[in-house]
Amino acid sequence: MRIKTLKDFNFNEKTALLRSDLNSDVVDGKVLKGERIKESIKTINALRKAGAKVVILAHQGNVGKKNFLGLKQHAKLLGKYVKFVDDIAGKKAVSAIKGMKKGDAILLDNVRKVKDEFFPKKKGNILLKKLLPLIDIYINDAFSVSHRNHTSIVGFAKKLPSGIGLLFEKEIGALEKISMKGCLFVLGGAKGESDVKLLGRGNRVLACGLFGQTCLAAKGFKFGFQDEFLKKTVLTKLSYDGFLKKLKRKLKGVGMPVDFAVAARGKRKEFELGKFPMDLRIEDIGKTTMKRYCKIIRKAKAVYMKGPAGWAEDKRFAKGTVEILKAVADCKGFSLVGGGQLSGAIERSRISKKRFGHVSLSGGALLAFVAGEKLAGLRALGYY
Ligand code: 3PG
Repeated sequence: MRIKTLKDFNFNEKTALLRSDLNSDVVDGKVLKGERIKESIKTINALRKAGAKVVILAHQGNVGKKNFLGLKQHAKLLGKYVKFVDDIAGKKAVSAIKGMKKGDAILLDNVRKVKDEFFPKKKGNILLKKLLPLIDIYINDAFSVSHRNHTSIVGFAKKLPSGIGLLFEKEIGALEKISMKGCLFVLGGAKGESDVKLLGRGNRVLACGLFGQTCLAAKGFKFGFQDEFLKKTVLTKLSYDGFLKKLKRKLKGVGMPVDFAVAARGKRKEFELGKFPMDLRIEDIGKTTMKRYCKIIRKAKAVYMKGPAGWAEDKRFAKGTVEILKAVADCKGFSLVGGGQLSGAIERSRISKKRFGHVSLSGGALLAFVAGEKLAGLRALGYY
C-alpha cells in the first residue's frame, strides 16, 4: 500500500472532508440501507472518535436517471450522529461547516447536483472554491467511485493532505493480493461501457443482466419494448446505437443468454430467445441460461462476477442472480464478486460471504482496476 490510511493522520480538532460512496438501491423512492452505508458508518465513526469534524460528500444515482436523489434519507440511515445539510457548496453548507465541533458529522447533499463535480480542472470550480479553505484533511473512502475523474475524487486529493478510509483500505488490500489469471468474467448490470473493457484479449465472458441483453441487441436481436428500456437505462457516453456498433465488434468469446423471465400478470414466466414477447420487459435470465452458465462457472479456474443477472431486489426475479452466485461460491479457484447490488443479493440469499474470495462493494471501479486501468482517484492519492 503506497497511500496514507487513517492511522497516518492526527484528526484531533481537524476538519476532514470524507468522500463516501452511499450510492444505494432505491425501491419506490425509498433508499435501502445496504452494505455501502453500513461500511461507511465505520469510517465516519473512526474519524469522529479521533476528534475530527467530519464533512461527508457523496452521490446517489446519475443526473437524469430515476435513482438520482438527494441525500436526506441517507443521512438518516447513517445514524443519529450524522446531520443532513440541504446544500453542497452554498452559504448553508459553509456556515454548517464553520459551526462544527470535534466529533460532529454532517452529510452534504448529492454532490452530482453541482455541475463542477464533473469538471475538476475548471477554473473557479465552485466545490473547490467554497469547501477547500474550510478543510484540513481529505479522506477518500469511495474506492467504488475512484475510476471517475470527479472533483470530489481527484480535486481535493491533489490540494490537501490526503488518505483513504477503512472501506477503501479493505478493498484495495484485498485486490492487491489477487491474481485473475485465466479468469472467467460473468458480466451483468447496466454499466455496459465498463463491461466492454473486459471483452476481447482472449477473455472468456458470460454476459447477463442488462449487459447480456445489450450484447444480443448488438448482434441484431430485437426485443421490442425492452429495446426502448435498454436505450434509456444502459449507461454509455456514446449514443445507444453507437455503443451497439462498438459492442458488436467485440463479441467474440462472449456467451449470451438463451432464455429470459418476464412478469406476466405479476407472475414469473419464461421464454426462449426466439419466442420472446415484444411487449414485455425482461426481468431475469431463464432456467436454461442459468444451467449452462452455472456449469461453466463451477469449472472455472478463477471467476469475477460483476452486476446482477436480473432484477435481484425482487424475489420473483432474483433466481438467476442467486443461482449464479451459488455457482461462483462453489468455484474452486479464486472468486471475486463486485458491485453494490450483488453484495445486497448475497445478504438476502444468505449465501455466506466467506465462500467468496472477496466481495467488493465496487462495480465499475473494480472492473477498471481488474482490466489494468489506472484509476483517477488512486492516481490523485499518489498510488501509482
Ligand atoms: C457505483 O455504483 O458503482 C458507484 O457508486 C459509482 O457510481 P457511478 O458508476 O454512477 O459513477
